[in-house]
Amino acid sequence: MTRDNDGRGKQAVVTGAASGIGRETALRLARDGFSVGVVDRDTTAAEEVADVIRSSGGDAVAEQADVRDEAQVASAFSRICEGRGPFFALVHSAGILSTSPPLVLGEDEWREVIDVNLTGTFHCDRAAARLMVDAGNGGRIVNIASVHAQAPGRGLAAYDASKGGVWMLTRNLALELAQHQVTVNAIGPGLIVHTTLGGGTSEEYLDRTVPTIPLGRAGEPSDVAGVASFLCSPDGAYVTGSMIYVDGGMLLTAHT
Ligand SMILES: NC(=O)c1ccc[n+]([C@@H]2O[C@H](COP(=O)([O-])OP(=O)(O)OC[C@H]3O[C@@H](n4cnc5c(N)ncnc54)[C@H](O)[C@@H]3O)[C@@H](O)[C@H]2O)c1
Repeated sequence: MTRDNDGRGKQAVVTGAASGIGRETALRLARDGFSVGVVDRDTTAAEEVADVIRSSGGDAVAEQADVRDEAQVASAFSRICEGRGPFFALVHSAGILSTSPPLVLGEDEWREVIDVNLTGTFHCDRAAARLMVDAGNGGRIVNIASVHAQAPGRGLAAYDASKGGVWMLTRNLALELAQHQVTVNAIGPGLIVHTTLGGGTSEEYLDRTVPTIPLGRAGEPSDVAGVASFLCSPDGAYVTGSMIYVDGGMLLTAHT
């Protein structure tokens, strides 16, 4: 028996959808039948993803927004929904990495990571929640966090702090929005290759890390997209305030 992923007639928005996990999630939600808003600060790449969806018979529109700017996010989300049906699902994947150890981490780098990863999540989740609550049909919000919401990594002080914040924001919004039948969950990816963010991963790091992952391989963007699809599907309706780790068991050994 196949799972019912019927998104027909529903609007989904994916941020960070120009690349990596967000791109794969936008393609997956389109295959599930959602009309997809492809949001990224990289307009050209976002348009390319929307073209791929349309050329496969799906419905998609690209919008530019920098998630650090709440007004940009709110107007991009509103434009996507105009005349396209109620806003049902947000998968928020836009994010950046920084790798400076805490003793040399600059104030500007710290602020940039917190602004994009944590404040950006607040902007996107709130803009989506306002549209969902106004429409009165419930909804789904899925934040792409990280195993680093739980396990610290060397050189990742700002990133770890931002993703820990995303996890607690997810829990708070799950509590606050349940009365509106809006579910809010997080996905905690481990080592995901074939993304721009994961592309900086050196061969040496992969050789050292992959053998420590209990399932014996790095993750692919499609591994994460499948779980996002589940959380946006009818089968995911009673899941809220949860983190689903998609890490091949990495956290079982915690050599992150
Ligand atoms: N790749 C991994 O190993 C991994 C592991 C754990 C968590 N994650 C998380 O997954 C999410 C997606 O990462 P990815 O690996 O697909 O990386 P990626 O670099 O391939 O994709 C990130 C996308 O976010 C967009 N973006 C960045 N800053 C933005 C901003 N200010 N406004 C709008 N868009 C912006 C980029 O343009 C890009 O398209 C991130 O939140 C990341 O922290 C990734």
